[in-house]
Amino acid sequence: MFFRKLVLGMAGWGPIRALVTKTPLFRPMVSRFVAGNSLDEAFPVCEALAADGFRVALDLLGENVASLAEAAHERDQYLEIVRRIAASPHRRAMYISIKLTALGLDQSEEECYANYSAVLKAAEEHCIFVRVDMEASAYTDATIRLVERAAAEHSNTGTVIQSMLHRTQEDAQRLAAQKVPVRMVKGAYSEPPAISFADKAETDAAYLREAKLMLEAGSPVALATHDEAIIGDMTTWLTAKQIPQDLWEWQMLFGIRRDRQRSLRDAGQPVRVYVPFGGAWYPYFTRRLAERPANLLFMLRNLKD
Ligand code: FDA
Repeated sequence: MFFRKLVLGMAGWGPIRALVTKTPLFRPMVSRFVAGNSLDEAFPVCEALAADGFRVALDLLGENVASLAEAAHERDQYLEIVRRIAASPHRRAMYISIKLTALGLDQSEEECYANYSAVLKAAEEHCIFVRVDMEASAYTDATIRLVERAAAEHSNTGTVIQSMLHRTQEDAQRLAAQKVPVRMVKGAYSEPPAISFADKAETDAAYLREAKLMLEAGSPVALATHDEAIIGDMTTWLTAKQIPQDLWEWQMLFGIRRDRQRSLRDAGQPVRVYVPFGGAWYPYFTRRLAERPANLLFMLRNLKD
């Protein structure tokens, strides 16, 4: 937790941001986590994954836009992604992940909802699901509020909950009661100790508890993790409880634990790869560095070469 706070704190510092984004030195590391700068670059990657037996979540990188005009531009880019998926022979394997602060949540909740609804309606015509990613805790209430509102009107949306937050058990119960599909994650943001678990063991225990609670209630859960202990525990539990396979899937990030992605797929289990792309990769990239000291060491070693 200290490492995460340190890396995310340093990454927010202007000179570090400029160094990482403006020099080509970091490109090899960035391209390990980000599938391309544009939809044209990333879509063939997604189609190749789908042809290889994976499901895919496309994520256009970008968050906290500065104006409603920028939010409208993001919405239009998502509408283009919907069109591209709809025209693909692999459309059934693909869906979209969005962030509400890219659609104007900082500027206006109503305008943000209008942008989100426009994407949802277009996607619904082609049976494409739209997952709303969960951002830092300042946005949790608004995200859940807008997703609940949308889920009452559309069948193709759901969100994400983070087991590191104390509030999540209640959110899990509430979303499960409405059968809103959820992606279960540990949480990638640096959160104040008053509202989050300081201890990894507590976050992990909460992850298992909340995922099982929702699945037992018959509510769909995407199990997003690379953690071997959680994969092992959940596998045993899913088998023992005979949880139907249409209620769950594994999800992992592009470029992380590719060996495990393949071995789960080879065992006949549903695996979705979350594929981020786009020019606004810096915040996503720094969250991946903050998750694992080895990533930072790998990057620093590359700098010396
Ligand atoms: P943990 O961090 O304990 O890692 C377990 C093991 O996985 C590590 O020992 C290592 O082997 C491997 N690993 C994990 N992260 C790695 C990395 N960056 N590089 C290399 N190896 C790594 N968060 C959020 O707050 N909101 C969201 O909407 C999402 N969405 C999302 C979608 C998907 C598909 C995934 C997989 C994750 C997210 N996350 C997220 C991120 C999530 O909250 C969490 O930060 C990461 O998944 C890391 O947690 P793990 O469960 O993998 O366990």
